[in-house]
Amino acid sequence: MRQNITMLLILLGMASSAVCVEKPQTESESCVTSECHSEHLSKPVIHDPVNEGSCEACHELTDVKTHTFKFTEEEPGLCIQCHDELSKAYVHGALDDGECRQCHEPHASEYQSLLLAPTVGEMCMECHEVAEEATHLHGPTAVGECSLCHTAHESDHENLLTMGLDELCVFCHVTTQEEVAGMEFVHEPVRDNCVGCHDPHGANNWTMLKAEAPEMCFPCHEDIQTQTQTSKHQHNVVSEPGGCLKCHTPHGSSVKFLLASVPTTLCLTCHDKAQGVTPSEVLPAFIDQIKDKTYLHGPIKEDDCSGCHMTHGSDQFRMLAQAYPAEFYSSFDETKYELCFGCHEKTLVRTSTTDALTDFRNGTQNLHFLHVNKERRGRTCRACHQTHASDQPKHIRMSVPYGGWKSLPINFNKTDTGGLCSPGCHMAKAYDRQNAVDYTVKPARRRTRLSGLVPR
Ligand code: HEC
Ligand code: HEC
Ligand code: HEC
Ligand code: HEC
Ligand code: HEC
Ligand code: HEC
Ligand code: HEC
Ligand code: HEC
Ligand code: HEC
Ligand code: HEC
Ligand code: HEC
Ligand code: HEC
Ligand code: HEC
Repeated sequence: MRQNITMLLILLGMASSAVCVEKPQTESESCVTSECHSEHLSKPVIHDPVNEGSCEACHELTDVKTHTFKFTEEEPGLCIQCHDELSKAYVHGALDDGECRQCHEPHASEYQSLLLAPTVGEMCMECHEVAEEATHLHGPTAVGECSLCHTAHESDHENLLTMGLDELCVFCHVTTQEEVAGMEFVHEPVRDNCVGCHDPHGANNWTMLKAEAPEMCFPCHEDIQTQTQTSKHQHNVVSEPGGCLKCHTPHGSSVKFLLASVPTTLCLTCHDKAQGVTPSEVLPAFIDQIKDKTYLHGPIKEDDCSGCHMTHGSDQFRMLAQAYPAEFYSSFDETKYELCFGCHEKTLVRTSTTDALTDFRNGTQNLHFLHVNKERRGRTCRACHQTHASDQPKHIRMSVPYGGWKSLPINFNKTDTGGLCSPGCHMAKAYDRQNAVDYTVKPARRRTRLSGLVPR
């Protein structure tokens, strides 16, 4: 059917030809004469067989009298007679029905490669709209150089790419490649999926990002998205515009988890000053808790804030990774201290007597048990320990807050076999693991008891 229509067109074309006055009634020597079909030779780019006058390669005379022709073969077979068959894994969708003439003139053209449009880019844009509305266009796309990245017919790579995505972008972006090569931790998509974040053609964001952080990260990090959006205690910086990039580098980093710097330094870029959680609740400058302190808590020494905090948000108070009471006093339940017992032996508070499970004991009396493991008013760890850092050994705090009284000194003195505390909470008391102190013997002078802080 199509062949018939084409033949009709050929005949019409011949009939309307201004130069060829009459159709030849006999087989002629050459189809191209000064009168006939010379237009094929007047364009700058001429198809080789046309140039050589091999019209019969494509046109077969079917009737001499009426000067009628048919194609020697249907497209794409017509062209494939001389050109390579498409055999690669990915063939251009435009070639699904083999119509080479969607892009090429069969005889001659004004343009390179016998194209129907002046440039490859313009040829492609006849059918494709890429980044037409984009405010940030990619250099090569802006100048219509589609073929720097795509082949027109077929490819071994998806999307007709000239090379694999692992090579394509860094072929030109050598600087990015070098920058990343020097880093210990490389973001996985940077190895072979730059287009996971950048639109290769153009976009409405800076550096052609498909979206801005945090949205740009969410398609691949759904777990983090859920965490940031559904946690009871959120870190607002995470979901603010640009959020993730306040702490993470997008391509690579010399710090684990693609952090912009080691956690302590990173966190202190903001927590070196007071930060408001709510209009009424302001966190004091965190830096004061660790600056110049003699003893840093193990994980802090290791720059591991994440040992205790879930930076992206958590259901626990202060975005803690696990349970820890928010209060000074709390009825005891082991599950309330999962945070500390994630790293420390929970046996230190389990039994009333021990000769090994804790050093905080008087003889065999377990003083951790005594203070913490209580039905009512059990002391939480913060009653005695400073979580982040301290100037006293064993992270014993210098003072405890008490109501409006910001600091009630603890005065801890560590000895080789025990220690002595004279806190505001109770009279000075010593403990000794080897020679147990006899608490039934009352000391000569008693300190004033402060109701509410007295252990019962
Ligand atoms: C590589 C194959 C090929 C060769 C070689 C070829 N043609 Fe064609 N020709 C075609 C195709 C395909 C069409 C249909 C074009 C269309 O419909 O736009 C066509 C159409 C025509 C037409 C009718 C429409 C038009 O463009 O005027 C004429 C006349 C024609 N060819 C003459 C020639 C002559 C003369 C030669 C040799 C000098 C020649 N062709 C060589 C493929 C070829
Ligand atoms: C009789 C053999 C023959 C047939 C049939 C043929 N070609 Fe060609 N074609 C050639 C030769 C020879 C060249 C020049 C060498 C080369 O580039 O491969 C060429 C070159 C081309 C070029 C490159 C032109 C340039 O200047 O870079 C295109 C495009 C092309 N052919 C398209 C087609 C299409 C489309 C068809 C089918 C309509 C077709 N050819 C059918 C022989 C043929
Ligand atoms: C979607 C448009 C499109 C279609 C359809 C198309 N081509 Fe091309 N072709 C091009 C472009 C663009 C170039 C030039 C590539 C360049 O310069 O980067 C080209 C170049 C060519 C060349 C020159 C040598 C080469 O491979 O670069 C030949 C030969 C060719 N095409 C043959 C064909 C044949 C045969 C078909 C049908 C089977 C076909 N083309 C279908 C767009 C197309
Ligand atoms: C005549 C129309 C036409 C032209 C011209 C055209 N394409 Fe296509 N292209 C299509 C069709 C049809 C598809 C398949 C349908 C789709 O995926 O949208 C396609 C799909 C694609 C795809 C997706 C991968 C695939 O194979 O399906 C890429 C990449 C592509 N074209 C690139 C180009 C480039 C580069 C050019 C210029 C060299 C170009 N196209 C010119 C029609 C065209
Ligand atoms: C810098 C390399 C590069 C240039 C230049 C480029 N592309 Fe692409 N293009 C790609 C990559 C990479 C993909 C695959 C995107 C993906 O996997 O998300 C693609 C995908 C496509 C697709 C299929 C998917 C889609 O986005 O619709 C089309 C069509 C396409 N390109 C057309 C073009 C056209 C037309 C041009 C020229 C105006 C062009 N490309 C220029 C790299 C490029
Ligand atoms: C053929 C070379 C070439 C290829 C391949 C190429 N680019 Fe580009 N790219 C450029 C040029 C040229 C610019 C514009 C100059 C510049 O800003 O450095 C550019 C700019 C960019 C920019 C913006 C830089 C800025 O500072 O705003 C990004 C992002 C980018 N390219 C990403 C990619 C990605 C992703 C790929 C792979 C899909 C890719 N490029 C492939 C040449 C290339
Ligand atoms: C996870 C998302 C992501 C991936 C994957 C990614 N980038 Fe980027 N890229 C970004 C972000 C975000 C920026 C902007 C950084 C900024 O504003 O400081 C950027 C910036 C750039 C720039 C601008 C100059 C610069 O370095 O600041 C270029 C060029 C670039 N990327 C190229 C690439 C190339 C090439 C790849 C793949 C090898 C790639 N990107 C992979 C997110 C990504
Ligand atoms: C195209 C998908 C993709 C996008 C977009 C993406 N990532 Fe990733 N990211 C990954 C993959 C894959 C991994 C490695 C597997 C994993 O840890 O989930 C990864 C890992 C990470 C890691 C852990 C690295 C490590 O050393 O363990 C961080 C941190 C990260 N991404 C942050 C981001 C941030 C921030 C953004 C947005 C700026 C982002 N990602 C956007 C795919 C993506
Ligand atoms: C306030 C700093 C900060 C911000 C903002 C931040 N992160 Fe993180 N991120 C970290 C730290 C610290 C780690 C190290 C391990 C941990 O805490 O889970 C990390 C780890 C990760 C990891 C790898 C480990 C895991 O839990 O899977 C991914 C992925 C990640 N972040 C993605 C994101 C994304 C996406 C965003 C934006 C929505 C974001 N981050 C915002 C500090 C931050
Ligand atoms: C870009 C600034 C910024 C960075 C970096 C930052 N924070 Fe924050 N952080 C804040 C602000 C502002 C608040 C108070 C408002 C809120 O909760 O979001 C806060 C609150 C907190 C809270 C208390 C949350 C609550 O619910 O009471 C903790 C704990 C915290 N940050 C830990 C960290 C840790 C750990 C890091 C480093 C991994 C870090 N922050 C990095 C700005 C930052
Ligand atoms: C050993 C567990 C642990 C580690 C490690 C840890 N924190 Fe905390 N952090 C806590 C606890 C518990 C709280 C709640 C304080 C309280 O009320 O006792 C807290 C509270 C905070 C607060 C809220 C302000 C405050 O003082 O209550 C900030 C900010 C904070 N931590 C930042 C950090 C940073 C930054 C790091 C890493 C340098 C870090 N934390 C490491 C356990 C830890
Ligand atoms: C992520 C693990 C981790 C978590 C969680 C943790 N610690 Fe620690 N803690 C350590 C490490 C490591 C040391 C140092 C161990 C050493 O030097 O023997 C340490 C040391 C201590 C010490 C001093 C022990 C000594 O012998 O010097 C005390 C007291 C302490 N932690 C209390 C706590 C309390 C209270 C909590 C809960 C709020 C807690 N820790 C949560 C890891 C952790
Ligand atoms: C009443 C004060 C007090 C309370 C409450 C307290 N501790 Fe202690 N803790 C101490 C003292 C004092 C030491 C030092 C013992 C020594 O080395 O002489 C100590 C030592 C430790 C040690 C070092 C190992 C050991 O047992 O000797 C760890 C770990 C520890 N405490 C964790 C905790 C945890 C976890 C909590 C909360 C569940 C807690 N402490 C509650 C006073 C307290």
